Order: sequence, then C-alpha cells, then structure tokens
Amino acid sequence: MKAEFAVIGGTGVYNPRMLTDLQELTIDTQYGEVSLKTGRIKEKKVVFLARHGSKHSVPPHQINYRANIMALKKLGVKKIIATAAVGSLSEKMAPGQLVVLDQFIDFTKGRTQTFYEGGEKGVLHIDMTHPYCPELAQTIIDVCPPTIDLHQKGTYVCTEGPRFETPAEIKMFKMWGGDIVGMTSVPEVVLARELGICYGSIAMITNYAAGISALPLTHKEVVETMALNTHNLQALIMEILINLDTRQECLCPIANQEAGNLG
Ligand code: HPA
Repeated sequence: MKAEFAVIGGTGVYNPRMLTDLQELTIDTQYGEVSLKTGRIKEKKVVFLARHGSKHSVPPHQINYRANIMALKKLGVKKIIATAAVGSLSEKMAPGQLVVLDQFIDFTKGRTQTFYEGGEKGVLHIDMTHPYCPELAQTIIDVCPPTIDLHQKGTYVCTEGPRFETPAEIKMFKMWGGDIVGMTSVPEVVLARELGICYGSIAMITNYAAGISALPLTHKEVVETMALNTHNLQALIMEILINLDTRQECLCPIANQEAGNLG
C-alpha cells in the first residue's frame, strides 16, 4: 500500500470520517510499530493516524513521534495535514475558531527531535525559518469555505504537558509572541521536515488558556468544544485533500540535503 497524503488527527479527531474504503494497517519501523488506517477520498489514497491512539490513550509526552513520521514516510507520504487542539492566549482568538499554524516556540523538555543522531546517521541542523510548509498553508487558506472562521496564521507554543500551564507561563508565552498553546506540534513538524514531507497544521481553539479564562481548565472542556466544532474541521480537511496534488514546489523535500536522505 502506498499513499501520498496523510491526516494526523489530534485530540477529538480519532476517526477519518472524510475517507471511504477504510482499512487498518500496522507499519513496522526501527522506532516501533504504528497502527494506521488507510482510505480514499475520490481517487486519492490517504493515510489516517490518530496521534493519541484511537481511544486517546497516549499522552503528548509519550507519543512515539519518530515512529509515526517514519511510518508515513515508508508509505510514501509527501504531504501531512495535522490537527491540534489548542488554548488561546488572547481574546482575539476564540474557542471554535481555526488557526493555520505558521511558527512555533518550543517549550518541550525531553523529546527526541531528530532522526539524525550522529555516527553513521550523520548530523543535521534542519532549517526552521518556515517550520510549517508555506505552500500547504496557502492551500488550506485558499480552499477554506467562507463559513469557517479561520485565522490565516498563528504562533504555536508547544509545552511538554501533560499538565496544563500556569497563568504565569501563559503570560510569559504571550510576551514572547505566542498566540496559542498546545502539547504536540513539536517535534512532529520538525521530524516531517527532516524526512522531506510537507507538513501543514490546523489548530482548533478549544478554550482560553489558563489565566485568560478565570475558570480551571479541564480535558472535558477541550473534548466538548472539539466535538461541537469538529464538522468544520472535517469539512476543511476534506476540501484540502480534494485540492491537494503531489507536487512539492516548496523547500521541504530538499531540507535534509546537507545530511542525506534517511527516509
Ligand atoms: N494548553 C495546552 N494544550 C491544550 C490546551 C491548553 O490550554 N487546550 C488544548 N490543548
């Protein structure tokens, strides 16, 4: 089985409702096994990966990011559309709205962020000037139906989790220039770039972050807001997949040329 497009579903997106002919598949990689679903949208073959597992049993810091991205590479994936549940750092971005990510600030602590671990594998200092594929981001913006409330860019602060942030942390992230906060985009986006895969991410704002909201945060609130607005996200992903082609006219496929292609 080969597929050129993948959807990585985050919190609240465990089923590829936009796909037909679904089949389950396990891919073995040197980093571990990955369970996936494959399906179709029109004539295109698409892989679906539930980042936290199909029952949300894997917390952000225990996700096997390298196995996931390597499994997609092994299937021939060239473009990934990821979803992410996020908290908002400002009143300008409200729960239920979507954000196309264009930058990140990494506040994770103990995650392996590379396939290139020295020795025979080499060393790679991957460029992150445009961490999210700008061409893919533009496609997301271009195909988004006017009925969907979409912010065309946003800086994602990635925390280690699984705990939510303190209001003092959120205040600091805001001063740094962050717009939204989540726990999973790093190192996923970095690893995709290392393997030459275009990676675009659509964040769904599920709550105001700690301290912006006066109320304590709960995972239940995140999941409920996600469920209320998931039709928008699924509709947008469907439009994107219908319109995507396999051409990579961006710099993503040559980003690893300094160190050689491991994929
Ligand atoms: N913080 C971190 N991750 C999140 C949040 C949040 O407020 N909401 C959804 N994912």
